[in-house]
Amino acid sequence: MLATTPPMGWNTWNTFGRNIDADLIVGTARAMVDTGLQAAGYEYIVIDDVWQGSERVDGRLGADPTRFPGGIKPLANEIHGMGLKLGIYSSAGTLTCEGELASYGNEEIDAQTFAEWEIDFLKYDYCHLPPGIDGPGLYRKMAQALRSTGRDIILSMCEWGVNQPWNWGASVGAHMWRTTEDIFDSWESIVEIGFGPQADLHPFAGPGRWNDPDMLVVGMYGAGNVGRGGCSDAEYRTHFTQWCLLAAPLMIGCDIRSMTAATEAILLNREVIAVNQDLLGVQARKIGEQVHQGDWSQVWAKPLADGSIAVGLYNLGDKSRKVSAAFEPLGVAPDRSCLVRDIWAGEDRGVHQASYATEVESHGTALLRITPQR
Ligand code: GLA
Repeated sequence: MLATTPPMGWNTWNTFGRNIDADLIVGTARAMVDTGLQAAGYEYIVIDDVWQGSERVDGRLGADPTRFPGGIKPLANEIHGMGLKLGIYSSAGTLTCEGELASYGNEEIDAQTFAEWEIDFLKYDYCHLPPGIDGPGLYRKMAQALRSTGRDIILSMCEWGVNQPWNWGASVGAHMWRTTEDIFDSWESIVEIGFGPQADLHPFAGPGRWNDPDMLVVGMYGAGNVGRGGCSDAEYRTHFTQWCLLAAPLMIGCDIRSMTAATEAILLNREVIAVNQDLLGVQARKIGEQVHQGDWSQVWAKPLADGSIAVGLYNLGDKSRKVSAAFEPLGVAPDRSCLVRDIWAGEDRGVHQASYATEVESHGTALLRITPQR
């Protein structure tokens, strides 16, 4: 099975938008290795929109010869040589969202081309569909075309949740599907995408089939294509924690060739990543929410394979406040005490009965690992 845990990697779009070329891809792949991101589990380097040349040659897509002078195949070789995997982008419509050539009516030949280039991941968008066409049917078509190449290629559906893809994505052969509109590098966007409607989607995720609330904006600080003012490190920590609890694919969107120490500390925290990559593959549920006079907190819980529970205590409000989690709603038997570990702090907090509470800064997070005791 492909994507037994949520795929991890990096994608060009959030920071670089249309301004991408072969040097960026290779430089980023090197940074993936040199910074330790690869060792921490990040694997896919994904070229998003605007890599394409202006016309098909012999019916085939090709890369823009100015920005990708050798084409995609040598790039794939170089990426594979570093032990990484290469992803690419197309759309189910006649053009991509940025108006480049796309795959409608050419699904088979495009899948063949991607397989010949030794592509490992395809992000497949939803712009410029002919009127009245059956969207899910187009994803089935591309999934079949990819399968018949015989190559293992992850299919990442990007139809923004329009047709409730969590209901049919896995059955057409996709491994992940966007559940929302595009993310932007702002606190408002993180809250809207991460702490709203995702709460209902946990039944649909599991090994090989992941809900995708879009890529990470951690470390962008307002710079780049989807920059909108940027976020504080506490806000990025909240964003990363929630994506880990949601068992979301972790596709980095900042420029990893020049990360701050704070960004590295977030994206490289192995204990937090382990929550995301846990083999049980269960997406977190929202356990509780409190809204009171400007205070706003939420508690989310993700059961883990070893019987412990990862719990996010989120302070979405504007002042520091105490956030607490009662153990019983997490599925802990009432007579059981629990060992509490604060994952970001990297410290155990002792054994507690019935509940645990801690002070959480505004827009901040405490991520706990709660282990029921014998
Ligand atoms: C859509 C997608 C984005 C990105 C752009 C590229 O907006 O949702 O993630 O791929 O297209 O044009």
